[in-house]
Amino acid sequence: MIYNSIIETIGNTPLIRLNKVNQGIKGEILVKVEYFNPGNSMKDRMAIKMVEDAEAAGILKPGGTIIEGTSGNTGMGLALAAIAKGYKCIFTMADKQSKEKIDILKAVGAEVIVCPTNVSPEDPRSYYSVARKLNKDIPNSFYPNQYDNLSNALAHYETTGPEIWKDTAGKITHYAAGVGTGGSMCGTAKYLKEQNPAIITVGIDTYGSVFKKYKETGIFDENEVYPYLTEGIGEDILPKNVDFDMIDHFVKVTDKDAAVMTRRLSREEGLFVGWSCGSAVHGALEYAKENLKEGDRMVIILPDHGTRYLGKIYNDDWMRNHGFLEDKTFGTARDIITARNGDYQLLVTQQTDTVKAAIALMNKTSVSQIPVMDGDHVVGCLTDNKLLSKIIDNPDLKDAPVSEVMEDSMKFVALDSTLDVLSSMVDKEKAVLVRDEKHQIHIITKHDILEAITK
Ligand SMILES: Cc1ncc(COP(=O)(O)O)c(C=O)c1O
Repeated sequence: MIYNSIIETIGNTPLIRLNKVNQGIKGEILVKVEYFNPGNSMKDRMAIKMVEDAEAAGILKPGGTIIEGTSGNTGMGLALAAIAKGYKCIFTMADKQSKEKIDILKAVGAEVIVCPTNVSPEDPRSYYSVARKLNKDIPNSFYPNQYDNLSNALAHYETTGPEIWKDTAGKITHYAAGVGTGGSMCGTAKYLKEQNPAIITVGIDTYGSVFKKYKETGIFDENEVYPYLTEGIGEDILPKNVDFDMIDHFVKVTDKDAAVMTRRLSREEGLFVGWSCGSAVHGALEYAKENLKEGDRMVIILPDHGTRYLGKIYNDDWMRNHGFLEDKTFGTARDIITARNGDYQLLVTQQTDTVKAAIALMNKTSVSQIPVMDGDHVVGCLTDNKLLSKIIDNPDLKDAPVSEVMEDSMKFVALDSTLDVLSSMVDKEKAVLVRDEKHQIHIITKHDILEAITK
């Protein structure tokens, strides 16, 4: 078979049976290995679709520039499309992305602008904002916006879904995928559910992302948002490509569990895949353990290739430094709270308490910050610095309820958040909170992290 250009080789990736990492789980687990695409990821599918839909709509014209905020894989797909069709590419990326990903994009002729990770999406420095500004400033430029451009999900509806349906001869009961922009989960799920509405879909989310809570409660909870390391999945926004009706369940996976599973996929299955593949498989198998029966068949999509992560999860030193190898004994929020003695009790104040009473409690117990509750829910916090300046400005506040002076809540972090992630959060802000397996809430302050680091 002769292809006219590289972009004609996109799609028709293989479906491969897992044999080892799923041991003890009922049913059959198949993975759709998307690194067989020419750009080594599933993003080739939606990149070419976004470009061709923009051409058809007259948005992208000859000699144009494609500008996108991308974690690397979409950039690669767009760069291949641009080479085949004669466009220029400029990509903005968050600085948490692997250096390999940046170098790869440069190798295929793109210009890459690296932006800070730990700023809000609305911040003018974020990679979303920088891409939008470039699109405004550069004439004849096209900003695909993979988050909200529905050609993304449509690409998977038209290709990934039909391929899975055909390759399984319609014998599929469950579909699982990581959720970033939502395109690969929701486009594929829509096609599969149209063929058989009984197919159950499982979306994989990260700790530090808003999706799971939003699906389960309808609440967009900024307290769930905090930095995490896994690349490609989880978001602090709700992209238009995420259609929550297409996702029956969400499972959250920690950075560590994802990294460990990714390495197992390489060593035990011969699948040298990327980090979010470990998230997808770990999360999907957690679901499968509880829910799959003999005769069921689950398909999990594996988005990309391992080369892009050689300096991170495939590097033993990097794994050890992040507390992801079992020989590192002290490295996460879990370690800090397990080192505490058994009668630990979180000090809190209710939002209806008076400020005077809250100050008395803080003084008596010598704490500098305290969560504020509405019954069992954390709704805010008091910190001694801010409280002092507010009371100096207005001494009458002493008799007001705590709700009138409280600040935004401390953020919740995952039990397996590593010390570097924790310290980047408490440096900037307040202490952080973590829920243990019994749902008890613990506070972690800068002092706790310093103590853990020096142990
Ligand atoms: C490595 C990787 N995994 C998973 C995803 C998530 O896929 P989607 O954007 O289709 O939800 C992405 C998207 O950026 C990715 O790059």
